[in-house]
Amino acid sequence: MPKFIYIIFGLMTCFWSAFAQEWKAPEEEKENVSIRLFDNEIETEGGVLFMNSCKSCHGSPTQEDFSLMLPSPGDLASAKVQNQTDGELFYKIRAGKGAMPKFGDALDQNEIWSLIAYVRSFNESYKQPEPNLEGVVIPNITLNLSFDDNVDKLVVKTLDENGNPMPDVTVKAFVKGHFGNYLLGKSRCNELGIAYFDIDSKMPGDEEGNMDIIVKASKGFGSAKVTQKMRVVDAVSFKSAIEGRHLWSVSKRAPYWLIVTFLSSLIGIWGTIIYVIVGLPKIKKQS
Ligand code: HEC
Repeated sequence: MPKFIYIIFGLMTCFWSAFAQEWKAPEEEKENVSIRLFDNEIETEGGVLFMNSCKSCHGSPTQEDFSLMLPSPGDLASAKVQNQTDGELFYKIRAGKGAMPKFGDALDQNEIWSLIAYVRSFNESYKQPEPNLEGVVIPNITLNLSFDDNVDKLVVKTLDENGNPMPDVTVKAFVKGHFGNYLLGKSRCNELGIAYFDIDSKMPGDEEGNMDIIVKASKGFGSAKVTQKMRVVDAVSFKSAIEGRHLWSVSKRAPYWLIVTFLSSLIGIWGTIIYVIVGLPKIKKQS
């Protein structure tokens, strides 16, 4: 057999595997829906995750700037994606396939739904299906924050409505800053319902070392958020920059050596000029 037949066969198998295998979600997952409303908040959360985890391959939705690979990741605002149900998208993001990573381990349910909320925000004809909340238990999370200054760690305790520890809660801690919130970290509570976050004692707090700490927690569809002012860093004393005698101080507070140098150069320069002026008639006379 001529060689080119093998080549044609090879190419055909490649194209077959690349295009013909339509990626389908299992039937039982197709009707899954989010029980959190796709509002601005969840869309924004999803947008941040998308920038960090998806944009490198899928590009910005509607911009058709996805990476070139086979099978193509495609634009997630395209009709091909938007015609699928929320449950199908949820399954594909959770399970992955080939080059599409499996995000089920790295992201919790809430985060995957937030990605779908973000991707749906590019489809003006999308209408979020109403969830059937019967039989769904939404965990009621209470958060308790403290600071362990022996190890410089923020300690977050998650409790259920009876005050018992709630394990396996995803917790994120932030520090409120002047230019938005700084993420301290993301963690999952241990079996005692506790998560720890390192705090750098050199971060800038106020005069007493207080910072506004924001903690967000989620488990299943339950979520909780607290903001608390806490003493977590070294106290800083704000000294005025012109207090004391510095080079950049006002004239009243300039260092003594500077005043002496300045005045003596002033006297020196003017003295020379006056000496020359006084001596001019003498030079004229001599010439
Ligand atoms: C490393 C590249 C890469 C990253 C990162 C990536 N994807 Fe994908 N994605 C792909 C590829 C490739 C496919 C096509 C897989 C196939 O059809 O076999 C795909 C397919 C999909 C599909 C199904 C599209 C369809 O047409 O059915 C969805 C939905 C999806 N990705 C969402 C996401 C989301 C959300 C993220 C971020 C959390 C993400 N992807 C991150 C490469 C990637």
